[in-house]
Amino acid sequence: MRMLDLIEKKRDGGSLSEKEIRYLIRGYVQGEIPDYQMSAWAMAVFFRGMNREEITDLTLAMADSGEQLDLTDLGKVVDKHSTGGVGDKTTLVLGPLVASCGVSVAKMSGRGLGHTGGTIDKLASIPGFQVELSQAEFLAQVKRIGLAVVAQTANLVPADKKLYALRDVTATVNSIPLIASSVMSKKIAAGAHGIVLDVKYGSGAFMRSENDARILADTMVEIGRALGRETIAVLSAMNQPLGRAVGNSLEVLEAIQALQGNGPEDLMNVCFELGAWMLVAGGRAADVESGQALLTESLASGRAWDKFLEFVEAQGGDTEAVRHGKLPLAPLQVAVTARESGYLADMDALQVGVLAMTLGAGRQTKESIIDPGAGVVLQKKPGDWIEADESVMVLYSSDQQKLEEGLSRAQGVYHIARSK
Ligand code: URA
Repeated sequence: MRMLDLIEKKRDGGSLSEKEIRYLIRGYVQGEIPDYQMSAWAMAVFFRGMNREEITDLTLAMADSGEQLDLTDLGKVVDKHSTGGVGDKTTLVLGPLVASCGVSVAKMSGRGLGHTGGTIDKLASIPGFQVELSQAEFLAQVKRIGLAVVAQTANLVPADKKLYALRDVTATVNSIPLIASSVMSKKIAAGAHGIVLDVKYGSGAFMRSENDARILADTMVEIGRALGRETIAVLSAMNQPLGRAVGNSLEVLEAIQALQGNGPEDLMNVCFELGAWMLVAGGRAADVESGQALLTESLASGRAWDKFLEFVEAQGGDTEAVRHGKLPLAPLQVAVTARESGYLADMDALQVGVLAMTLGAGRQTKESIIDPGAGVVLQKKPGDWIEADESVMVLYSSDQQKLEEGLSRAQGVYHIARSK
């Protein structure tokens, strides 16, 4: 078999067999197929697409490229994945909320890159919190308390790591077959029986249109089911940030409020929908309505909050700091005020994500170091009335130059209109 022939076949709109897909993934991981040939193939896929069988074969070939977890001893375990958003702290809320209803949650998560934050960076902003556990520790914790969230190990789907880094610099990220196989290979390797996918669309998401998000969601659900996993996808809009906080410790603080029953409405709506489906996937609820009733009861009784504290303690985090909401915040804080009165007409999620990254909350490159206390807290959300000189948002940073850069960006992330 020659890689050149496989590139040509895809370029001309043909379909690759399972054998051919395994050949190219194995060859790429082992360094026998060079980046330039893999890039040409990824670009051919970008334009020509893949059929469902090819996508499923690619997913399995990638999942098989590294270690895979066997969670069968732990009963029905669920995992959840979001395709990336701004201010998306749902995992921090959903993990304990769902676990407190009796369904175990085992999640391996990535670090953030670019304008979308990563759950692991958020958890790492809790003093002492260990995001790296051995496989044995991870499994033991899920068995003991029904919840663990850890950084993806280096050997989980190495094919995706290499291919994703290549796609990132060859303009081939936004391809539905490549996104679907990338996400699902990691979910399959991580071992959960139930998988709930939150597929975002809008300005802050990979998929700009609802229609593309639906195609991506259907593709991933079909792959998951074909591979024997109970897979459910929910679509949610990401045109404006979710909740009010964007940035690592700021988002943990908002998740704490949510677990104490004071979460913002948009965040809670997404959590209740995804959480109910997680309970369905875990066999604890027959339908979404009964799932939501269980979640409501757990939140109101304080069990979800207690589970969060148990989780933080199990992973070495400072529960006293969490209990008292004392997480490190960046020392430089400045309010951005409205230049005129009116309704906040829109606030672009992508722009707010880039603003938070500029302040130090995200990584511009893989090597960037995150400022855990940096970010943005929105005082107003689209639809709110605002007076001239009133604060729209507060910026947090530890670096004067970044704060100034953020300030010069901030007025461009929202618009004010005379009517709603
Ligand atoms: N998230 C992933 O894990 N992979 C992609 O390709 C895109 C988003």
